[in-house]
Amino acid sequence: MKILVLNGPNINMLGIREPGIYGKQTFSDLLDLINQTAKETGIAIDQYQSNHEGALVDKIQAAYGDYDGIVINPAAYTHTSVAILDALKSVSIPAVEVHISDVDSREAFRQISYAGMYCEKTIKGQGIDGYRQAIIYLTEKYGS
Ligand code: DQA
Repeated sequence: MKILVLNGPNINMLGIREPGIYGKQTFSDLLDLINQTAKETGIAIDQYQSNHEGALVDKIQAAYGDYDGIVINPAAYTHTSVAILDALKSVSIPAVEVHISDVDSREAFRQISYAGMYCEKTIKGQGIDGYRQAIIYLTEKYGS
């Protein structure tokens, strides 16, 4: 099994951006956690972060035929991007949406998730551990 972890805009600023909301753990800590989870589960995991919507769409399209699961935090594009939703639908790869913060308890504009309309599960408000939980969910459901 092979999983792709995708992160949208400003996730690379973790640890610097709004630590009261996103915590003090850095993007590098997140990458370490992903690598550690890959080792623990024995699953091949690649990760990609971009601040650009089209680049994320390209990466989802390129995942077709190569990956068995996607973990995605589209960040701000969660609330705006029909293009990311359509890309996920196009490739039909099982996907889990992750949000570091508890988007439900934040501004009204964060209550809509386009990617979430495709994803089979959403994990929110768990900090960076949400990525580990999402990987384990996909591994248990689809791993061989
Ligand atoms: C986020 C929540 C989004 O509303 C926000 O735009 C982000 C990060 C999260 O992980 O909590 O950039 O996706």
